[in-house]
Amino acid sequence: MTSLPHLNAAFPRTRLRRNRTDAWTRALVREHTLTTDDLIWPVFVIEGENRREPIASMPGVERRTIDLMVEAAAAARDLGVRWLALFPITPPELKDPQGSFSGDPDNLMCRTIRAIKAQVPDVGLLCDVALDPYTSHGHDGIVKDGRVLNDETVEVLVRQSVVMAEAGCDIIAPSDMMDGRIGAIRDGLDASGHDMVRICSYAAKYASGFYGPFRDAVQTGGLLKGDKKTYQMDPGNAEEALREVALDIQEGADMVMVKPGLPYLDVIRRVKDAFQLPTFAYHVSGEYAMLRAASANGWLDYEKCLLETLLGFKRAGTDAILTYGALDAARLLKQG
Ligand code: PBG
Repeated sequence: MTSLPHLNAAFPRTRLRRNRTDAWTRALVREHTLTTDDLIWPVFVIEGENRREPIASMPGVERRTIDLMVEAAAAARDLGVRWLALFPITPPELKDPQGSFSGDPDNLMCRTIRAIKAQVPDVGLLCDVALDPYTSHGHDGIVKDGRVLNDETVEVLVRQSVVMAEAGCDIIAPSDMMDGRIGAIRDGLDASGHDMVRICSYAAKYASGFYGPFRDAVQTGGLLKGDKKTYQMDPGNAEEALREVALDIQEGADMVMVKPGLPYLDVIRRVKDAFQLPTFAYHVSGEYAMLRAASANGWLDYEKCLLETLLGFKRAGTDAILTYGALDAARLLKQG
């Protein structure tokens, strides 16, 4: 076997430190970079007007009413962050075991989409599809006799997707992990005249402990009894992630997501190598909270570690990253 020419020269002819001599050389030979085009900013919307609420387990993240969300969307766009992922907080009296309010064209989610699209049309909206914001039990699907029903849930998800597409959403992002939902949603969107609305499948979504702060943020944590292990993936599996992605591509997914991010970088790399389609990562609430908590204690530098984490996603093969630190990262990138 002949070795590659550049591997022939050994020390002292080769000194890898030469390429690290100064900032301009390091920049010249850098293999991966992070830009604001890579960032999607997840945000939480509440009912009301001119109101914002902090989230204790996610310092720096706020719930906002629609009017403030419109302002935030414009501010994000001005920083170069052109995508938002929207999450609604549904008042408890509007929740039921079937998650019926998910299909109401005047629910908080749809009103938020319409408001942002009317006032900040050049911001892309990625909208989560799953029933957990709307169910009284906190599961992502319809529950009967203690089981989360698949096919019955998919029917409700199709309606949820169509009303959000109608409202103006750009990317439908099913996060529920029901089988067969991508194909059903694609058919539903096409049949209702939304054939250009994209689908980003949360294809490899694991049953993770790292979603804890998110469930505080959307106020579903207290409702959920048990766990989501009968639909979200087992953290021990990687081959199965490739099967999930393959099926979703066959069903019409335009992009796929791996979630959480950091503990699953191997999965991101394997998905990217196997399928070469746009592959996103979700740097989830618990991952963000860890960075914030450590930096609040003076143990880590939040800014440095955030950028390093996001660059790590790029190196692993990610095309875009959902991160609560999107605006912080954008500000830091602007400073250079
Ligand atoms: C709900 C959903 C969850 C997240 C995104 N969509 C939570 C869950 O599955 O329980 C988690 C995001 C995060 O932790 O930042 N389907």
